[in-house]
Amino acid sequence: MSQGIVTVCYIAATILFILALGGLSNQESARRGNLFGMVGMAIAIVATILSSAVTSYWVIIFTILVGGAVGLAMANRVKMTEMPELVAVLHSLVGMAAVLVGYANFMDSSIVLEGAEKTIHEVETFIGIFIGAVTFTGSIIAYGKLCGKLDGKPLVLPAKHWLNLAALVLVVILGNAFIHAAETGGGMTPLIIMTLIAFIFGVHMVMSIGGADMPVVISMLNSYSGWAASATGFMLNNDLLIVVGALVGSSGAILSYIMCRAMNRNFLSVIAGGFGTPTGGGSSSSDEEVGEANPIDVEETAQLLLDANRVMIIPGYGMAVAQAQHAVHELSRFLINKGINVQFGIHPVAGRMPGHMNVLLAEARVPYDIVFEMEEINEEFPEVDVTIVIGANDIVNPSAKTDPNSPIAGMPVLECWEGKTTIVSKRSMASGYAGVDNPLFYRENTRMLFGDAKDMMEAIHKAMDS
Ligand code: TAP
Repeated sequence: MSQGIVTVCYIAATILFILALGGLSNQESARRGNLFGMVGMAIAIVATILSSAVTSYWVIIFTILVGGAVGLAMANRVKMTEMPELVAVLHSLVGMAAVLVGYANFMDSSIVLEGAEKTIHEVETFIGIFIGAVTFTGSIIAYGKLCGKLDGKPLVLPAKHWLNLAALVLVVILGNAFIHAAETGGGMTPLIIMTLIAFIFGVHMVMSIGGADMPVVISMLNSYSGWAASATGFMLNNDLLIVVGALVGSSGAILSYIMCRAMNRNFLSVIAGGFGTPTGGGSSSSDEEVGEANPIDVEETAQLLLDANRVMIIPGYGMAVAQAQHAVHELSRFLINKGINVQFGIHPVAGRMPGHMNVLLAEARVPYDIVFEMEEINEEFPEVDVTIVIGANDIVNPSAKTDPNSPIAGMPVLECWEGKTTIVSKRSMASGYAGVDNPLFYRENTRMLFGDAKDMMEAIHKAMDS
């Protein structure tokens, strides 16, 4: 395929990727967005394989077959609740790819450049390897934290910000040494030392971030993986990779910003490794006085719901674990048919990935017009008769507002306790992802409905129907 046709294909793929991002910003157009992305990627892969830069097909066919088989097996096996971990692993692969391409590029004797062009190429290689290495280890730690293999509490080393700063200064010095040494054919030693520092930096950065701030980390690593891909594009002189990497990098950065705003966190504080972490760091208790939790059974819940004029449903991670979204939809439909005003209130970091609850509710075909974002609905709780919290915990924790030492202090939460009655459906009194006790469970107007969310929703539906 001639270079001209390859360029046309790359432009078409880029346009499709931009349309894909546009589509993904809205639930109703998300499917179309995905389709654009898939077509764009197919065009990009075929054009690259058929371009004159590829001289042997055997390696490519072999790697596509092996990589495709592994990807297919993983995608088939992964549960919806494990998606964030899978995404973290995939980000780590992008990071490692950038490191390997960087080294291969540096060692490739067929690349002969002179003067400024050579220096620019070396800077690209150095920065690409650095971003890739940070993304690789950062993503591995994020994977460990997300699947519970590593403690969610922030690692607080003494003088950690000075350690980070010292590491960055060292990287700059090594960069200078690398560029000078590369002029005379050397440079491998500073490159290797920088890579090791970047690996440690990635580990430290994510280890320092507490469980409650993980949503920002996920979107931030997403952004890093984009910049790593973009850096790889510069190294390989591939325009499409540069543009696509920049699209992923910038959209991930915007998502991180949105996440920070949603959690009332300072972006720089979070990426500096929990700089804003309250003094209570890993505190698991709250200052609010606790009494006895007040349980409720299925029959009484059904009656309360039937007597209500207005019902609010707040789903959380537990709904995803129980796969209760279809049962929740059936229940809400039943109540709507009885003339009750039913709405869903969605917290921006409910679940374990951005938009987690919206995806589940869309899958269960809950109409979009009864699903509201937190800021649209939070003022309305005093008008709500019954709020039913399904497998949610941190996102309805009043201590975020009342306890300045809580790890979730300052995070906006759904203020369901302002309504008449709140029913919390979960299996036990256990804490949520941030590991913080929840005083909501002990409030006078809160009733605890213990059991698996799906079983409970089905039982309530049955009790109302009989
Ligand atoms: P969580 O605070 O994690 O609480 C979920 C609750 O669901 C748990 O307390 C658990 O209690 C209950 N649960 C688990 N399985 C259940 C089942 N089968 N049936 C009924 N209940 C079940 O969830 P949340 O309120 O959605 O808050 C999300 C948290 O995750 C936040 O801290 C957020 O920062 C963090 N996070 C979010 C993201 C993104 S991007 N959304 C990414 C990483 C981390 P029991 O064990 O007692 O049942």
